[in-house]
Formats: sequence, structure tokens, C-alpha cells
Amino acid sequence: MNYSKTVLLLLFAVVFISPSLLKAEEDPTNTPGYYPKEYMNMKNPLPFDLATLREGRTVYTGQCEVCHGFYGDGKGNAAVIGKYKPMPRDFTDNHIMSKKSDGMLYYSISKGVHGTRMFAREEIMPASQRWAVIHYIRTFAKSEDKEK
Ligand code: HEC
Repeated sequence: MNYSKTVLLLLFAVVFISPSLLKAEEDPTNTPGYYPKEYMNMKNPLPFDLATLREGRTVYTGQCEVCHGFYGDGKGNAAVIGKYKPMPRDFTDNHIMSKKSDGMLYYSISKGVHGTRMFAREEIMPASQRWAVIHYIRTFAKSEDKEK
């Protein structure tokens, strides 16, 4: 009786306690495709207008284009020369991008994408610039895919 209780307790410890201890130390972005709920449903606070797109383009050409590319296809010079693995996201690929809410992109831009060259911008870029560049990168979506 006591023996099996001990075994059960040990099992409990291994199965439940250690993963949660590990998780507490890890950054949640360690899990690919992980987005916290509170981010997923966030709405872009900026209007999709010319002023926002201009702001977004300034951010993009200055800080994103070197990797994500002039055409937004993920083939920026740094990424091509550096043979990045994985390559930066192809924003023209509407199959992927249409599944990502603005809030998901905001999360990745803010916190970075773990295990890739995409680093966190939260502490170095005002939130308004992060939201503006999200509107801008939506303009790369290929129109033929949009109609599908
Ligand atoms: C040093 C290269 C580099 C720079 C600079 C860079 N990125 Fe990335 N980006 C990446 C890589 C690599 C990925 C990961 C692609 C993947 O996971 O498939 C990525 C992924 C992304 C994603 C997809 C995230 C998701 O959850 O789907 C977005 C959005 C993004 N970057 C936006 C930006 C924006 C905006 C900037 C400029 C502020 C920027 N990136 C600058 C390399 C870069």
C-alpha cells in the first residue's frame, strides 16, 4: 500500500511537477506557433490609412527590409547572404499570413520568434510603430491569393 503510494507520488512528481518547473524557467516563445490569448484577439489600434502606411513603410525599410526583403518575400540581403535557417517570413504568402491575426504578428514583433533571427522589438520600438508596420506588411499579400 505504502509502496504503491510512493510510486504514485513519484509518478505525479515526474509527470506534473517537472514540466511545470521547466516551463516556469523557459520563455513561452520557445514553443513554435505559441501565441497568448490576450494577444491573439488584439485589434490594431491604428487606422489603415495613408499616414499609418507611410509610418509603417519607414519602419519597414529601416529595420525589417534587410531580412524580409524589398518585396516582403523573406529574401532580404542579410538573410540570403547569411543563409538564415529558417528564412524570414514571406509576407507575400497569403496562405500563411491570412491565418495570422494582427495580434499574433504584434506578439512576434514584440517578443521575437524563438530559435530564429527574429528578435524582440518590445523594448526598442514604440507600440505605435509596431502596429503601423503590421498594416504595412499586409500590403505585400499577393492579390491573386486574396481572391481565393
Ligand atoms: C535579422 C533578420 C530579421 C529582421 C531584421 C526582422 N525579421 Fe522578422 N523574421 C525573421 C525570421 C528569421 C523570422 C522567422 C520566420 C519563421 O518563423 O518562419 C521572422 C518572422 C517574422 C514574422 C512572423 C511571425 C509570426 O508569428 O508569424 C513577422 C510578422 C516579422 N518577422 C516581422 C518583422 C518586422 C516588422 C521587422 C522589422 C521591425 C522584422 N520582422 C525584422 C527575421 C528578421
